Amino acid sequence: MHRYVRQEDGTNGMAEPRKIIIDTDPGQDDAAAIMLAFGSPEEISVLGITTVAGNVPLSYTSRNARIICELCGRTDIKVFAGAEKPMVRKLVTAEHVHGKTGLDGPELDEPTMALAPGHAVDFIIETLRGEPEGTVTLCTLGPLTNIGMAFQKAPDIIPRVRELVMMGGGFFEGGNITPAAEFNIYVDPEAADIVFRSGVPIVMMPLDVTHKLLTRKDRVKRMAEIGTRPAIAMVEMLEFFERFDIEKYGSDGGPLHDPTVVAYLLKPELFKGRDCNVEIEVKSELTVGMTVVDWWQVTDRKHNAKVMRDVDADGFFDLLIERFARI
Ligand code: BDR
Ligand code: CA
Repeated sequence: MHRYVRQEDGTNGMAEPRKIIIDTDPGQDDAAAIMLAFGSPEEISVLGITTVAGNVPLSYTSRNARIICELCGRTDIKVFAGAEKPMVRKLVTAEHVHGKTGLDGPELDEPTMALAPGHAVDFIIETLRGEPEGTVTLCTLGPLTNIGMAFQKAPDIIPRVRELVMMGGGFFEGGNITPAAEFNIYVDPEAADIVFRSGVPIVMMPLDVTHKLLTRKDRVKRMAEIGTRPAIAMVEMLEFFERFDIEKYGSDGGPLHDPTVVAYLLKPELFKGRDCNVEIEVKSELTVGMTVVDWWQVTDRKHNAKVMRDVDADGFFDLLIERFARI
Protein backbone atom coordinates (compact mmCIF):
# COMPACT_ATOMS: atom_id res chain seq x y z
CA MET A 1 0.00 0.00 0.00
CA HIS A 2 1.23 3.52 -0.73
CA ARG A 3 0.44 7.01 0.40
CA TYR A 4 0.84 10.19 -1.55
CA VAL A 5 3.21 12.79 -0.22
CA ARG A 6 3.85 16.33 -1.40
CA GLN A 7 7.24 16.45 -3.12
CA GLU A 8 9.61 19.44 -3.07
CA ASP A 9 8.80 20.10 -6.74
CA GLY A 10 5.12 20.50 -5.82
CA THR A 11 3.96 17.21 -7.36
CA ASN A 12 2.40 14.34 -5.47
CA GLY A 13 4.73 11.36 -5.21
CA MET A 14 4.25 7.91 -3.77
CA ALA A 15 5.92 7.16 -0.46
CA GLU A 16 6.76 3.57 0.26
CA PRO A 17 5.57 2.35 3.66
CA ARG A 18 8.41 2.06 6.16
CA LYS A 19 9.66 -1.53 6.50
CA ILE A 20 9.88 -2.82 10.04
CA ILE A 21 10.56 -5.97 12.01
CA ILE A 22 8.74 -6.10 15.35
CA ASP A 23 10.71 -7.95 18.03
CA THR A 24 8.38 -8.59 20.93
CA ASP A 25 7.35 -10.50 24.08
CA PRO A 26 3.55 -10.02 24.09
CA GLY A 27 2.31 -8.78 26.66
CA GLN A 28 -0.87 -6.67 26.49
CA ASP A 29 1.01 -3.46 25.70
CA ASP A 30 3.04 -5.25 23.03
CA ALA A 31 -0.31 -6.29 21.53
CA ALA A 32 -1.35 -2.63 21.44
CA ALA A 33 1.89 -1.75 19.61
CA ILE A 34 1.36 -4.49 17.02
CA MET A 35 -2.24 -3.37 16.52
CA LEU A 36 -1.09 0.20 16.00
CA ALA A 37 1.21 -1.02 13.23
CA PHE A 38 -1.56 -3.13 11.67
CA GLY A 39 -3.86 -0.11 11.74
CA SER A 40 -1.32 1.93 9.76
CA PRO A 41 -0.62 -0.03 6.54
CA GLU A 42 -0.08 3.11 4.47
CA GLU A 43 2.89 4.14 6.57
CA ILE A 44 4.17 0.83 7.93
CA SER A 45 4.92 -2.51 6.34
CA VAL A 46 5.53 -5.29 8.86
CA LEU A 47 8.12 -7.63 7.31
CA GLY A 48 7.80 -10.07 10.18
CA ILE A 49 7.31 -10.47 13.90
CA THR A 50 10.05 -12.07 15.98
CA THR A 51 9.33 -13.29 19.47
CA VAL A 52 11.52 -13.41 22.54
CA ALA A 53 11.17 -14.65 26.09
CA GLY A 54 10.38 -11.81 28.48
CA ASN A 55 7.03 -10.99 30.02
CA VAL A 56 6.25 -14.71 29.81
CA PRO A 57 8.22 -17.70 28.44
CA LEU A 58 8.82 -18.01 24.70
CA SER A 59 6.09 -20.60 24.13
CA TYR A 60 3.53 -18.04 25.32
CA THR A 61 5.02 -15.00 23.55
CA SER A 62 5.09 -16.99 20.27
CA ARG A 63 1.50 -18.08 20.81
CA ASN A 64 0.41 -14.57 21.72
CA ALA A 65 1.98 -12.92 18.67
CA ARG A 66 -0.02 -15.27 16.44
CA ILE A 67 -3.21 -14.66 18.43
CA ILE A 68 -2.84 -10.92 17.81
CA CYS A 69 -2.25 -11.46 14.08
CA GLU A 70 -5.38 -13.62 13.85
CA LEU A 71 -7.43 -11.21 15.94
CA CYS A 72 -6.56 -8.50 13.42
CA GLY A 73 -7.08 -10.70 10.35
CA ARG A 74 -3.36 -10.59 9.51
CA THR A 75 -2.62 -14.28 9.01
CA ASP A 76 -0.26 -13.22 6.20
CA ILE A 77 2.29 -12.03 8.77
CA LYS A 78 5.23 -14.34 9.45
CA VAL A 79 5.92 -14.95 13.14
CA PHE A 80 9.33 -16.39 14.03
CA ALA A 81 10.18 -17.76 17.46
CA GLY A 82 13.46 -16.51 18.86
CA ALA A 83 15.51 -16.78 22.02
CA GLU A 84 14.20 -18.86 24.87
CA LYS A 85 16.44 -17.20 27.42
CA PRO A 86 18.73 -14.19 27.76
CA MET A 87 22.26 -14.32 26.32
CA VAL A 88 23.98 -14.93 29.66
CA ARG A 89 21.51 -14.85 32.52
CA LYS A 90 18.53 -16.81 33.72
CA LEU A 91 15.16 -15.67 32.41
CA VAL A 92 13.11 -13.35 34.63
CA THR A 93 9.43 -13.07 33.69
CA ALA A 94 6.58 -10.74 34.68
CA GLU A 95 3.42 -12.80 35.15
CA HIS A 96 2.66 -10.59 38.16
CA VAL A 97 1.95 -7.80 35.65
CA HIS A 98 0.68 -9.59 32.54
CA GLY A 99 -0.95 -12.72 33.99
CA LYS A 100 -0.04 -16.36 33.34
CA THR A 101 -0.40 -16.24 29.55
CA GLY A 102 0.89 -12.69 29.05
CA LEU A 103 -2.40 -11.73 27.37
CA ASP A 104 -4.73 -12.30 30.31
CA GLY A 105 -7.98 -10.35 30.16
CA PRO A 106 -10.13 -11.32 27.17
CA GLU A 107 -11.14 -14.80 26.15
CA LEU A 108 -8.93 -15.62 23.19
CA ASP A 109 -8.89 -18.59 20.84
CA GLU A 110 -5.71 -20.59 20.49
CA PRO A 111 -3.96 -19.61 17.25
CA THR A 112 -4.39 -21.73 14.16
CA MET A 113 -1.61 -20.17 12.09
CA ALA A 114 1.76 -21.93 12.37
CA LEU A 115 5.02 -20.36 13.34
CA ALA A 116 7.25 -19.56 10.37
CA PRO A 117 10.08 -22.07 9.94
CA GLY A 118 13.51 -21.01 11.17
CA HIS A 119 14.88 -18.99 14.06
CA ALA A 120 14.02 -15.34 14.62
CA VAL A 121 17.71 -14.41 14.73
CA ASP A 122 18.26 -15.87 11.26
CA PHE A 123 15.18 -14.10 9.93
CA ILE A 124 16.53 -10.78 11.23
CA ILE A 125 19.94 -11.44 9.65
CA GLU A 126 18.55 -12.61 6.31
CA THR A 127 16.08 -9.75 6.08
CA LEU A 128 18.71 -7.11 6.78
CA ARG A 129 21.03 -8.70 4.22
CA GLY A 130 18.27 -9.11 1.64
CA GLU A 131 16.64 -5.67 1.78
CA PRO A 132 18.44 -2.59 0.48
CA GLU A 133 20.84 -1.08 3.02
CA GLY A 134 19.29 1.47 5.38
CA THR A 135 15.67 0.53 4.69
CA VAL A 136 14.75 -1.79 7.57
CA THR A 137 13.82 -0.44 11.01
CA LEU A 138 13.97 -2.69 14.06
CA CYS A 139 11.19 -2.07 16.57
CA THR A 140 11.94 -3.75 19.88
CA LEU A 141 9.27 -4.16 22.54
CA GLY A 142 10.97 -6.67 24.82
CA PRO A 143 14.39 -7.81 26.03
CA LEU A 144 17.02 -7.26 23.34
CA THR A 145 18.21 -10.90 23.20
CA ASN A 146 17.36 -11.61 19.54
CA ILE A 147 18.97 -8.38 18.37
CA GLY A 148 22.08 -8.86 20.50
CA MET A 149 22.45 -12.39 19.14
CA ALA A 150 21.93 -11.25 15.54
CA PHE A 151 24.51 -8.45 15.89
CA GLN A 152 26.99 -10.86 17.44
CA LYS A 153 26.43 -13.57 14.84
CA ALA A 154 26.40 -11.27 11.80
CA PRO A 155 28.07 -7.91 12.50
CA ASP A 156 27.78 -7.07 8.78
CA ILE A 157 24.07 -6.35 9.31
CA ILE A 158 24.73 -3.54 11.81
CA PRO A 159 25.40 -0.78 9.24
CA ARG A 160 22.41 -1.98 7.22
CA VAL A 161 19.86 -1.11 9.96
CA ARG A 162 18.00 2.12 9.25
CA GLU A 163 17.12 2.75 12.90
CA LEU A 164 16.32 0.78 16.03
CA VAL A 165 13.41 2.15 18.02
CA MET A 166 13.06 0.53 21.42
CA MET A 167 10.89 0.59 24.48
CA GLY A 168 13.36 0.24 27.29
CA GLY A 169 15.18 1.92 30.13
CA GLY A 170 14.34 4.72 32.47
CA PHE A 171 16.28 7.58 33.87
CA PHE A 172 14.45 10.31 35.76
CA GLU A 173 11.72 7.78 36.63
CA GLY A 174 14.16 5.10 37.81
CA GLY A 175 13.22 1.48 37.25
CA ASN A 176 10.11 -0.68 37.41
CA ILE A 177 11.56 -4.14 38.12
CA THR A 178 14.29 -2.90 40.46
CA PRO A 179 14.73 0.65 41.76
CA ALA A 180 17.35 1.18 39.04
CA ALA A 181 16.27 -0.94 36.08
CA GLU A 182 13.43 -1.12 33.62
CA PHE A 183 12.21 -4.66 32.81
CA ASN A 184 13.29 -5.04 29.14
CA ILE A 185 16.86 -3.97 29.84
CA TYR A 186 17.05 -5.80 33.17
CA VAL A 187 16.12 -9.16 31.66
CA ASP A 188 19.03 -9.13 29.21
CA PRO A 189 21.51 -6.38 30.04
CA GLU A 190 24.31 -8.06 28.05
CA ALA A 191 22.19 -7.96 24.90
CA ALA A 192 21.27 -4.33 25.58
CA ASP A 193 24.95 -3.54 26.04
CA ILE A 194 25.75 -5.02 22.61
CA VAL A 195 22.98 -2.96 21.03
CA PHE A 196 23.98 0.35 22.65
CA ARG A 197 27.63 -0.19 21.69
CA SER A 198 26.79 -1.26 18.12
CA GLY A 199 26.65 2.17 16.49
CA VAL A 200 23.12 1.59 15.15
CA PRO A 201 20.98 4.77 15.33
CA ILE A 202 18.81 4.22 18.42
CA VAL A 203 15.63 5.92 19.59
CA MET A 204 14.85 5.04 23.19
CA MET A 205 11.39 5.25 24.74
CA PRO A 206 12.04 5.00 28.47
CA LEU A 207 9.69 4.92 31.45
CA ASP A 208 10.08 8.71 31.58
CA VAL A 209 7.81 8.79 28.52
CA THR A 210 5.60 5.77 29.07
CA HIS A 211 4.65 6.71 32.63
CA LYS A 212 2.94 9.78 31.13
CA LEU A 213 0.66 7.59 28.99
CA LEU A 214 -1.97 6.37 31.40
CA THR A 215 -4.88 4.25 30.26
CA ARG A 216 -7.39 6.64 31.86
CA LYS A 217 -11.05 5.60 31.93
CA ASP A 218 -12.11 8.20 29.35
CA ARG A 219 -9.43 6.98 26.93
CA VAL A 220 -10.33 3.32 27.35
CA LYS A 221 -14.00 4.21 26.91
CA ARG A 222 -13.23 5.82 23.53
CA MET A 223 -11.42 2.64 22.53
CA ALA A 224 -14.41 0.52 23.57
CA GLU A 225 -16.71 2.72 21.48
CA ILE A 226 -14.91 1.54 18.34
CA GLY A 227 -16.89 -1.63 18.97
CA THR A 228 -14.91 -4.05 16.79
CA ARG A 229 -13.64 -7.40 18.07
CA PRO A 230 -9.94 -6.33 18.11
CA ALA A 231 -10.78 -3.05 19.90
CA ILE A 232 -12.92 -4.78 22.54
CA ALA A 233 -10.27 -7.46 23.11
CA MET A 234 -7.70 -4.69 23.55
CA VAL A 235 -9.92 -2.92 26.08
CA GLU A 236 -10.25 -6.17 28.04
CA MET A 237 -6.47 -6.65 27.92
CA LEU A 238 -5.85 -3.12 29.17
CA GLU A 239 -8.38 -3.49 31.97
CA PHE A 240 -6.44 -6.53 33.19
CA PHE A 241 -3.01 -4.94 32.64
CA GLU A 242 -3.73 -1.66 34.43
CA ARG A 243 -4.86 -3.20 37.73
CA PHE A 244 -1.25 -3.88 38.72
CA ASP A 245 -0.05 -0.34 38.02
CA ILE A 246 -3.08 1.33 39.57
CA GLU A 247 -2.27 -0.50 42.80
CA LYS A 248 1.44 0.16 42.51
CA TYR A 249 1.41 3.83 41.56
CA GLY A 250 -2.03 4.83 42.76
CA SER A 251 -2.51 6.27 39.27
CA ASP A 252 -5.51 6.74 37.02
CA GLY A 253 -4.79 3.76 34.73
CA GLY A 254 -1.62 1.91 33.83
CA PRO A 255 1.20 3.22 31.64
CA LEU A 256 1.05 2.08 28.03
CA HIS A 257 4.68 1.36 27.18
CA ASP A 258 5.24 -0.43 23.89
CA PRO A 259 2.97 1.44 21.43
CA THR A 260 5.29 4.47 21.85
CA VAL A 261 7.71 2.71 19.50
CA VAL A 262 5.23 2.50 16.62
CA ALA A 263 3.71 5.90 17.43
CA TYR A 264 7.17 7.41 16.99
CA LEU A 265 7.36 6.06 13.44
CA LEU A 266 3.95 7.51 12.63
CA LYS A 267 4.18 10.85 14.42
CA PRO A 268 7.66 11.63 15.77
CA GLU A 269 6.49 15.14 16.60
CA LEU A 270 4.52 13.72 19.54
CA PHE A 271 7.80 13.09 21.38
CA LYS A 272 10.57 15.28 22.75
CA GLY A 273 14.04 14.18 23.72
CA ARG A 274 17.71 14.71 23.04
CA ASP A 275 20.78 12.91 21.76
CA CYS A 276 22.75 11.41 24.65
CA ASN A 277 25.24 8.79 25.57
CA VAL A 278 23.63 5.75 27.16
CA GLU A 279 25.57 2.97 28.84
CA ILE A 280 24.15 -0.21 30.34
CA GLU A 281 25.17 -1.42 33.78
CA VAL A 282 26.06 -5.10 33.52
CA LYS A 283 28.18 -5.70 36.63
CA SER A 284 26.72 -4.18 39.77
CA GLU A 285 24.32 -6.43 41.62
CA LEU A 286 22.44 -3.42 42.95
CA THR A 287 21.92 -1.55 39.68
CA VAL A 288 22.27 -4.18 36.95
CA GLY A 289 20.23 -3.27 33.88
CA MET A 290 20.27 0.45 34.64
CA THR A 291 20.38 2.72 31.60
CA VAL A 292 22.94 5.36 32.56
CA VAL A 293 21.86 8.34 30.46
CA ASP A 294 24.23 11.28 30.21
CA TRP A 295 21.31 13.69 29.89
CA TRP A 296 23.28 16.70 31.12
CA GLN A 297 26.27 15.89 28.93
CA VAL A 298 28.65 15.70 31.86
CA THR A 299 30.97 13.29 30.04
CA ASP A 300 32.48 13.42 26.60
CA ARG A 301 31.19 9.93 25.83
CA LYS A 302 29.82 9.67 22.31
CA HIS A 303 26.08 10.15 21.70
CA ASN A 304 24.58 6.78 20.82
CA ALA A 305 20.82 7.27 21.29
CA LYS A 306 18.02 9.76 21.02
CA VAL A 307 16.49 9.52 24.49
CA MET A 308 12.88 10.65 24.73
CA ARG A 309 11.57 12.35 27.83
CA ASP A 310 8.24 13.95 26.95
CA VAL A 311 5.14 13.08 25.00
CA ASP A 312 1.89 14.70 23.94
CA ALA A 313 -0.30 12.16 25.76
CA ASP A 314 -3.61 13.29 24.25
CA GLY A 315 -2.12 13.24 20.74
CA PHE A 316 -0.76 9.76 21.40
CA PHE A 317 -4.15 8.36 22.47
CA ASP A 318 -5.91 10.10 19.57
CA LEU A 319 -3.52 8.36 17.19
CA LEU A 320 -3.97 5.01 18.88
CA ILE A 321 -7.75 5.17 18.81
CA GLU A 322 -7.87 6.44 15.23
CA ARG A 323 -5.67 3.56 14.03
CA PHE A 324 -7.38 0.85 16.11
CA ALA A 325 -10.61 1.88 14.41
CA ARG A 326 -9.07 1.06 11.01
CA ILE A 327 -8.44 -2.61 11.85
C1 BDR B 1 8.17 -3.19 29.40
O1 BDR B 1 8.18 -4.43 30.10
C2 BDR B 1 7.05 -5.19 29.76
O2 BDR B 1 6.39 -5.56 30.93
C3 BDR B 1 6.19 -4.36 28.86
O3 BDR B 1 5.64 -5.15 27.83
C4 BDR B 1 7.14 -3.33 28.31
O4 BDR B 1 7.76 -3.77 27.14
C5 BDR B 1 7.92 -2.06 30.38
O5 BDR B 1 8.92 -2.03 31.34
CA1 CA C 1 7.00 -5.74 25.91
